[in-house]
Amino acid sequence: MKLILLGPPGAGKGTQAKRLQQKYGIIQISTGDMLRAEVAAGTPIGKEAKAIMEAGKLVSDDILVRMLGIRLDQPDAANGFILDGFPRTVPQAQALDRMLAKKGLHLDAVIELKVDTATLTERIAGRFSCAKCGAGYHDSFKPTAKSGVCDVCGSTEFVHRADDKRETVAARLEAYHQQTAPIIPHYAATGALRTVDGMADIASVAAEIDALLAAAQA
Ligand code: AP5
Ligand code: MG
Ligand code: ZN
Repeated sequence: MKLILLGPPGAGKGTQAKRLQQKYGIIQISTGDMLRAEVAAGTPIGKEAKAIMEAGKLVSDDILVRMLGIRLDQPDAANGFILDGFPRTVPQAQALDRMLAKKGLHLDAVIELKVDTATLTERIAGRFSCAKCGAGYHDSFKPTAKSGVCDVCGSTEFVHRADDKRETVAARLEAYHQQTAPIIPHYAATGALRTVDGMADIASVAAEIDALLAAAQA
């Protein structure tokens, strides 16, 4: 299965992608996670991306298209993938079309998670993740089972993303509306677009996605 998860910052793309990855045995390709790994490793791409990400702006299409091309060529992508955070501009969507056509692949669904701005801000403000295994949580909506202890690996260290400050979130939302939302009509025109109510709780969003994927495969 080959999917795109589309939606503004905090919509729940990462949360749902991690679950879909396990359920369908396909890989999550999060360009945000890939860029954060480059920043942490201090690579040339990371050095270029760091300030842009902290300002809540988009990293250049050139870098992202190259990065995604390399990732899609890896053997584990052959079973299927969930693109989380890519494409994010019209040129990225066009580049993806070319990459998939070259491989003879087509998208099974482009899932748009719709969430209003006040909710997005609240979700991002309460988000944290495990410093050791990366498992994602939320103060109110997805707390750890035992306070201060990661459910997955038992670590007691947690981190917040550098771009999750309130000022930066506003810039990220602006980038989404200006640069990413214009790709939605592109996928509506191909017939692959499915819109999901991302305001519901995590389990309800998951159920809605599973139902539409079952219908897409039938
Ligand atoms: P990226 O990492 O992709 O960030 P983003 O799009 O801003 O999205 P988030 O990761 O913040 O949100 P999410 O939708 O994954 O939500 P989550 O599941 O965590 O990109 C970061 C930066 O990298 C960009 O700003 C840009 O600079 C750069 N970049 C990346 N890709 C790029 C590209 N292609 N081109 C150019 N630049 C690029 O959920 C949020 C919180 O809410 C969590 O705490 C979760 O537990 C909770 N939650 C989730 N679902 C629900 C629910 N249904 N109900 C209640 N709580 C929920
Ligand atoms: Mg994410
Ligand atoms: Zn952990």
